[in-house]
Amino acid sequence: MAMLVNQLGANLTVRVVGAPHDLPALSDFEVVELPVPEPAEGEVLFRSIYMGLEPSMRRRMPTPVASPGPSGGRVEIGDVMPVGQLPLSDPIFAGHVGEVIASRHPDFAPGDFVKGGTSWRTYHAEPGRLLLKLDPRQTPLRQEMGVLGQSPFVAYCGMETIGQPKPGETVVVSAAAGAVGSVAGQLARIAGARVVGVASGAKARYVVDELGFDACIDRTAEAIGPALDRECPDGIDLYFDNVGGEIQRAAYDRLNNFGRLVVCGMVSEYNAPEPDHGPPLRPLLRKRLRIEGFVVWDHAALYPEFRRRMKAWMGEGRMVYRDDLIDGLASAPAALIALLGGKNVGKMVVQVGEDPT
Ligand SMILES: NC(=O)c1ccc[n+]([C@@H]2O[C@H](COP(=O)([O-])OP(=O)(O)OC[C@H]3O[C@@H](n4cnc5c(N)ncnc54)[C@H](OP(=O)(O)O)[C@@H]3O)[C@@H](O)[C@H]2O)c1
Repeated sequence: MAMLVNQLGANLTVRVVGAPHDLPALSDFEVVELPVPEPAEGEVLFRSIYMGLEPSMRRRMPTPVASPGPSGGRVEIGDVMPVGQLPLSDPIFAGHVGEVIASRHPDFAPGDFVKGGTSWRTYHAEPGRLLLKLDPRQTPLRQEMGVLGQSPFVAYCGMETIGQPKPGETVVVSAAAGAVGSVAGQLARIAGARVVGVASGAKARYVVDELGFDACIDRTAEAIGPALDRECPDGIDLYFDNVGGEIQRAAYDRLNNFGRLVVCGMVSEYNAPEPDHGPPLRPLLRKRLRIEGFVVWDHAALYPEFRRRMKAWMGEGRMVYRDDLIDGLASAPAALIALLGGKNVGKMVVQVGEDPT
């Protein structure tokens, strides 16, 4: 095994070397070459092909002050960037799709394809129990990180368990062109609701023309409150919130009786030094509103059902999904910065290595 590992060359890895105050800079990251790890008993060595990026990675970065701030940094200066919540408990939520190079676990062999991995590096030695075996003859590997990956599943969980859109309702989705929002809105359309997105710039057109939303507000072109009044003349029944902040408040103020606010994420706060204090609660009582957050890990049991239904919707042409493919792990810091700045359309996926399928 040691001989094989030595032949693989260097393990390109991204470390965090800064504690940003707001939007991270390229100087907060360092790309280094580390040795390829030796898999221990029960572990599998795999080479990453695709790595998924998401805004919450920002929240894992170190905070500039000693005590954890609102962004709750958990990574120390010098650590390798993590792909998501650690420790990883379920391979469904892992950050890479890769090819097995060597295995010391009975369920995996070289040449298998897996989902797994917890950090920004090329070669990973992970316990076999934290890997999901993939079949590229059934599903292209890129789709495993895209339309069948974590972000669309987040949208599914939020809509199935909390939002539950009904025919004729008005649904608003923020970050509507993004990895989660694009699916959340399409799920509401499939349920028969009228769907209004919020996105920035040219993405607003894409959300209507390509994703089939009924309308989309360009948050950079006009004030959000009057725009919601125009696009939602009968008020809002369900707001699927990906961003928090000003857009959340404007949507909250326009919720109808028995309206729901699904708290999926707060990307507008991830770079902010102070947390937002949220909307006043009195209307919650008067309008009998429901505000509920969720974390995708709690709903892992829904994953097989999600996968089956998503494949069917794709097959029927009822679900459009796009990814933003970035070339090379060394480009991942710039890609995360672009994602936090709203420059992405759909899921941002880094091509770490060659896809042999
Ligand atoms: N609850 C869970 O378990 C769970 C799991 C994973 C992710 N999430 C959350 O889901 C949300 C969406 O994630 P994603 O991966 O799909 O990201 P994404 O929507 O693909 O990208 C983030 C988008 O947020 C928008 N944005 C950025 N800064 C903003 C600001 N200051 N104000 C308003 N909008 C801003 C931008 O879209 P526009 O510029 O087009 O508006 C940007 O493209 C995030 O909040 C993420 O943390 C939740």
